[in-house]
Amino acid sequence: MTTPPTSGSATARAFPNLALVKYWGKRDEELILPVAGSLSLTLDAFPTTTTVAVDPGLDGDVFELNGAAASDTAAERVTAFLDLVRERAGATDHARVHSVNEAPTGAGLASSASGFAALARAAAAAYDLDLDTPALSRLARRGSGSATRSVIGNVALWHAGADDETSFAEPVPAPDLAMVIATVDTAAKPVSSREAMRRTASTSPYFVAWITSTETTLTEMVAACRAGDFTRIGEITEAHAMRLHGLIASTEPPIRYLKPRSIEVMDTVVALRQEGVEAYSTADAGPNVAVLVRPEQAEAVAARLGDVVGPEKVRTAGPGPGAHLLPDAQPPAGAGGPVGDEGPAGAGS
Ligand code: DP6
Repeated sequence: MTTPPTSGSATARAFPNLALVKYWGKRDEELILPVAGSLSLTLDAFPTTTTVAVDPGLDGDVFELNGAAASDTAAERVTAFLDLVRERAGATDHARVHSVNEAPTGAGLASSASGFAALARAAAAAYDLDLDTPALSRLARRGSGSATRSVIGNVALWHAGADDETSFAEPVPAPDLAMVIATVDTAAKPVSSREAMRRTASTSPYFVAWITSTETTLTEMVAACRAGDFTRIGEITEAHAMRLHGLIASTEPPIRYLKPRSIEVMDTVVALRQEGVEAYSTADAGPNVAVLVRPEQAEAVAARLGDVVGPEKVRTAGPGPGAHLLPDAQPPAGAGGPVGDEGPAGAGS
């Protein structure tokens, strides 16, 4: 095998996803194999846009997030991920990584999902790795579990799988869905999901029940998606999210991500249902609440939630695409011109 080119540059974009059946717990920490499968909606809001530029002159990887040098922890995670890509590509050169993340980092809006899905897509292209979608989903999984699903657009089912080969996400047909996201707090979460998952596995007496019930719930959810049954999708979404937060609260010491304002939003959603508007709450490992609605009711629900958290803190999102390369970042075929690699292409759009 000849040495692959090591001066590639590529820019990719990926969107966060919100799980309707949650992923919580790993049975293999290194490979990031989950204890159960999960299912999510990839959004069309809060993207991460990432440029990976391989640079043979570098002694180590350089990671810039939102225009500033990233923390050591974040940089180490990016380097560990790029090491996996380099190993597969048979490459040794380091890279400059510029990432622009339009979601509030660390507040339960799955920024690691969009982050690692975009990084996987851009790094695979920059290091000239030709991966099909399942392989890309498996690669993204190694950065962060939820990133497995952000490789896929719209509704994605992550198969827990038996090993690295079989643990990836794929699309599932579903009715039209929308999310109304009420931002309650943008401060970083008190305990990372990674750490909280470990604590759950080692201290919660409910963990085994979580694993077995999630598999049953997932089967039911996939059937509801295929049947286009919005009501059942919503009911399962809300029940599973509440189970997740109950599980997390059952750890020792306990962890609580929801704030009083999160509960207020959830109560408003119950009130909306009593008024005949079909809306269902969910929340990831953070205080922000996402409300699953039919697209035609998104605006009315957004207005109601705006009364609770303030209109400027409410955002409506529809289904978004899977991780993709941005066309202007692809090398112009045969043109011989340089590909711009300074700055995060597509930032701020
Ligand atoms: C609550 O994917 O951030 O959002 O695999 O350790 O990186 P790691 O965890 P992460 O966890 C997401 C947990 C969740 C539920 C979900 O997205 O399914």
